[in-house]
Amino acid sequence: MWTMWTVQRRRERATLVVALLVCCAGAILEVEGVEKVYTKSFFSPVFETSPGNVFDPHQNVQFPEGHLAIRSFTCEMVDADTGEPIPLSELYVHHWFLYKIGVKKGFKALLSSAPLPAPHLPRRYATHYLRNPLHRMAFRPEAQPVQGRLKVPQVCATEESMNREDPFAAGAESRHTEISFPAPYGYVTGDMSEYEEGYEEAWYLNLHTIDLRGVVDPRGCFECRCDLYNVTVDVDGHPLPDDYKGGLRCCYHLTNCALKPGVQAKPRRTQLKYTMSWVDYDESVRPIRSYFLDATDTRASVYDRADCKGEYDIPKCTDGTTHECIHTQQCVEGLPNGGDLIFAFLHQHSGGLGGRFFNEAGETLCESLPIYGHGNDASFVEGMSPCNPKPGSVSIRTMEALRMESNYSSNVSRTGVMAIMKVYVADPVVEELEPLTVRDIEQVVNSVE
Ligand SMILES: *[C@@H]1O[C@H](CO)[C@@H](O)[C@H](O)[C@H]1NC(C)=O
Ligand SMILES: *[C@@H]1O[C@H](CO)[C@@H](O)[C@H](O)[C@H]1NC(C)=O
Ligand SMILES: *[C@@H]1O[C@H](CO)[C@@H](O)[C@H](O)[C@H]1NC(C)=O
Repeated sequence: MWTMWTVQRRRERATLVVALLVCCAGAILEVEGVEKVYTKSFFSPVFETSPGNVFDPHQNVQFPEGHLAIRSFTCEMVDADTGEPIPLSELYVHHWFLYKIGVKKGFKALLSSAPLPAPHLPRRYATHYLRNPLHRMAFRPEAQPVQGRLKVPQVCATEESMNREDPFAAGAESRHTEISFPAPYGYVTGDMSEYEEGYEEAWYLNLHTIDLRGVVDPRGCFECRCDLYNVTVDVDGHPLPDDYKGGLRCCYHLTNCALKPGVQAKPRRTQLKYTMSWVDYDESVRPIRSYFLDATDTRASVYDRADCKGEYDIPKCTDGTTHECIHTQQCVEGLPNGGDLIFAFLHQHSGGLGGRFFNEAGETLCESLPIYGHGNDASFVEGMSPCNPKPGSVSIRTMEALRMESNYSSNVSRTGVMAIMKVYVADPVVEELEPLTVRDIEQVVNSVE
């Protein structure tokens, strides 16, 4: 059904929007000049959460179909019955990420699962470690998920892990952080030439939430302090090292954070609402590549083996009376395939004070600062300021040594904090050189004389 809508002027596109239409399975179509931009909200499967509950599944989710270029992405947790956003003080979004894989036709729904023990996880990690979510899905052998050409070199990739691109990923800050790329840039999806015969593209969501209603210690719960979860082994059954006080290894799927006495189960139906805009793919689209920089990487040079842990701890400062208590975590990393910087933002947890990254010459390429909430959510990062330089104005060379720093307040000790800089780049536009005019040639000749 096509319905004419009133012309809603969007600030940044004031003069171009000519019509808004409802079309194509509920997507809203905006015609901007010759371009058609579709916008639609999708919902993850509903799940029921009670005070203290942790959910961390990987699930097959809806995604716009066809060969497309995604222009923007926002999301937040909503109450499935009222549609209202849920305050972070009630349901904390630790992180989420969306990734695509090729699966044998007819099998994509079967691959949704809770995380499973991953017997083949590298054991060399003593404490924090980055996990490869693909290890955790209940792959049915007959589904034969194939990554093939979808294996994109990643900053933190090692032989065992993290070869997959997570183009859309963040945490609680999604509420006020729109991931967006200006025309003609876009994240390309549905390119069937990436898949072998008999396979289809499927998108999976890993969403990690912690129900903070009625818990003894909200910060301890969202910083995943092991004592509050009463766990002694991680999701893989590995005993937790004595010095591991908190982090993702203690707040895995179906664990529970300690509640105040007398708090009753109070199931609430929730889901992630994610809104995307996109255009149909054509030759004019400039494809986006996505990477992340992880402040925990301890490699000394970009050509050393990556050593990313995903999360880290912050000790309480000892000289807080005379100094500002700021903890700075730094790393040096390089992009496997550089390009023009199109968009970037930092993922930090509560207590984050922002971060930035520098090029090899020491110039700041992007600074991303937290936006804290209000009222009960005042201690939560609800947004991060993004960097969206004019395309072509900031370029990053392949394996250029980028230094990233992340600051947190160390007023208190913290466990399992993160500093992940999402970085989106695209191939530079090659300027067609104007042929020299006769006058220019004369000038050059004259200046030589
Ligand atoms: C903590 O775990 C132990 C062993 O798994 C169990 O016996 C104990 O009741 C648990 N304590 C709480 C408070 O849940
Ligand atoms: C991080 O903290 C250091 C030390 O206080 C400071 O010099 C730097 O400007 C801070 N960076 C950001 C992005 O806030
Ligand atoms: C540390 O906490 C005090 C109050 O508790 C606050 O005024 C100060 O800004 C905090 N420092 C940092 C770096 O967040």
